[in-house]
Amino acid sequence: MATQDPQAAQPFTINPLTEALGAEIIGLDLTQPLSDATFTALERAFHQYHVICFRDQVLDEEAHLAFTRHWGELEIFPEEDKTKSAKTFYNVANTSVEGEHLPEDDPKVLFQKVNARWHTDSSYRYIPSFASLMYSTEVLPDEAKGGETEFSNMLAAYDALSDADKRRFEPLHMVHHYEFGRRLFPALPPITAFERNAVPPVSHPLVRVHPDRDYRRSLFFTVNAGNEVSGMALEEGQALLKWLDEYASRPEFTYSHRWRENDLVMWDNRVLLHRATRYDMARYRRAFRRTTVAGSGPALGPFSLAVRDALANDQ
Ligand code: OGA
Ligand code: MN
Repeated sequence: MATQDPQAAQPFTINPLTEALGAEIIGLDLTQPLSDATFTALERAFHQYHVICFRDQVLDEEAHLAFTRHWGELEIFPEEDKTKSAKTFYNVANTSVEGEHLPEDDPKVLFQKVNARWHTDSSYRYIPSFASLMYSTEVLPDEAKGGETEFSNMLAAYDALSDADKRRFEPLHMVHHYEFGRRLFPALPPITAFERNAVPPVSHPLVRVHPDRDYRRSLFFTVNAGNEVSGMALEEGQALLKWLDEYASRPEFTYSHRWRENDLVMWDNRVLLHRATRYDMARYRRAFRRTTVAGSGPALGPFSLAVRDALANDQ
C-alpha cells in the first residue's frame, strides 16, 4: 500500500515493493533541484527500504552525477580502462559506449557474469562503498527471461540465523580481493599492477554492526570477491561461503527488480547483497550506467561494540 505522510514534508509517495526491502518513489523529477526537506525525506525512505527506485527519469550523465553527489563523495573505479566512459561511471552493459552489441566473450560482457554472484559493490576496498545508483538506458523486452537485479536483505538474514550460528559467525572475518572475481572467469584479463596496488586484499568482519541503526547487525560477505574465511582452512571457509550463498537466496530476504527503461535504482551496499540474473546476452541488449557513493569508514564488527562498552565503563 502506498503511503504518504503529510506531516513529514514529503512531496512524494512511497510504494513498498516486498516485505524484505525496496520501495518505488513516485512523484519526483530528479533533474529538478531537491529541497533540504525532500532530501531528508528521501534519506529516511532509503534508511527504511534499502532500495529506492525512481521510474521514468530522464537523466544525462551530468544529472545522474548531480543526484549522486547529494549522498556523498563519489568512488572512482579501480580499473584503468575497462568498462567505463568516465572514472566515476561504470557502464554495466553488453554494448560498447559507441552502442555496438558486444560478443559474449568480450571482457566488458564477462564482467557482468561476475556480477551474477551475490555481492556488494566495493567489498574489496578497506572502506567499502555506501550506495550505488544505477540508471537503465536499454532493458530486456517483457517477453525475455532474466536480466533482473536481485537484492537480499542482510539485516533480516542475520536476524533469522539460529543462536548457534550467530555465535559461530561472531568472530569471523572474510578476505575480500578484487582479483578473485577475475580468477572466476579465466578469460578475463589478469589484473594490472595498477589495480593490484589500488585494491590489495582486505578483510572485513562477517558480522557487521551499523552505528546508524543502533548497532544492529547484518551479515557481510560476497561470493564474487570473497573466497577465504580467516582462521579457517580454505575448504572449511569455502563450505561456509557456499552455505551463506544459498542462505542469502531465500525468498523471504529478497526483492527482484525487473528493469524498465529510465529507472534509477539506488541501493545500500552496507546492508544488502545483490546480483544480476542471467539472460541471453547474445540475443538481448542491456545497458545501464552506475555511480557509487563512497563509504564513510571501514566495516565495523561486533568486537567494536565490546571496545565501545569497555571505554564507556572506564569513564
Ligand atoms: C553492478 C551490478 C547488477 C546487474 O553493476 O554492480 O551488480 O543486474 N549489476 O547488472
Ligand atoms: Mn554490483
